[in-house]
Amino acid sequence: MPNKSIQVNGLQKSYKQLQVLKGVDFEVEKGSVFALLGSNGAGKTTVVKILTTLLKPDSGTAIVNGFDVASKPDRVRQSISLTGQFAAVDEVLTGRENLIMIAKLRHLNHPRQVAHDLLKRFGLTDAADRKASSYSGGMRRRLDIAMSLIGKPELIFLDEPTTGLDPEARIEAWKIVKELADGGTTVFLTTQYLDEAEQLADRIAILHEGRIIASGTLAELKELFPPAEVEYVEKQPTLEEIFLAIIGKKEAI
Ligand SMILES: Nc1ncnc2c1ncn2[C@@H]1O[C@H](COP(=O)(O)OP(=O)(O)O)[C@@H](O)[C@H]1O
Ligand SMILES: [Mg+2]
Repeated sequence: MPNKSIQVNGLQKSYKQLQVLKGVDFEVEKGSVFALLGSNGAGKTTVVKILTTLLKPDSGTAIVNGFDVASKPDRVRQSISLTGQFAAVDEVLTGRENLIMIAKLRHLNHPRQVAHDLLKRFGLTDAADRKASSYSGGMRRRLDIAMSLIGKPELIFLDEPTTGLDPEARIEAWKIVKELADGGTTVFLTTQYLDEAEQLADRIAILHEGRIIASGTLAELKELFPPAEVEYVEKQPTLEEIFLAIIGKKEAI
């Protein structure tokens, strides 16, 4: 289907005895922000690795930008970009040099201009000629995301883009994601933070014990749980309450 960026069906993956994915299904609409929400160890990075062709699933299918990750990994790689959980920035190089390097690797025509524009866009102009090793966590993450935008991928994967960032840097990263989405880029992000999913995502899928146990827009997820009536005042559940209720319900079965 042309309006889908990602279609995942029955994805399974084990690491030796440990079955991490037990049949994962979801779809991501083109141009949307999709959040895969799950606790530490839920299997989020495993899903990202499969979708970005770094890891093969044991079974199931994943179609990314119309290409099957199993049979067309090169085409998938050309159409995406990945910002991993751990920054890909080269510490020895300056911010500018990091960007120029990637622009050259991607065979762009004006690598210096590309770097200049991205430095400006991500508020890194003043720090451009300092080694990345001197950057704060927030600056490094911005540089990392800037690097992943080189070549204008239509789909970008952000694996826990704000884990380890201070609150200010976190809000900056959120701003960047919103700008990407406004520009029409499809964003697949993973997070363990409910407020992050709530802030950024058009659709949220909750990965728990190897499966997607709930998915939908925030409004749809909220509908699963009727508002509690407190002294005749309706109180909408927060995503956190929904999350805990789903997990609690599941474990009670
Ligand atoms: N290469 C690996 N070998 C063995 N176990 C792994 C490997 N990678 C991940 N795991 C385990 O698989 C589970 C899911 O990991 P991961 O996908 O990184 O989760 P998340 O990104 O949601 O924190 C964890 O229990 C983790 O320890
Ligand atoms: Mg992870």
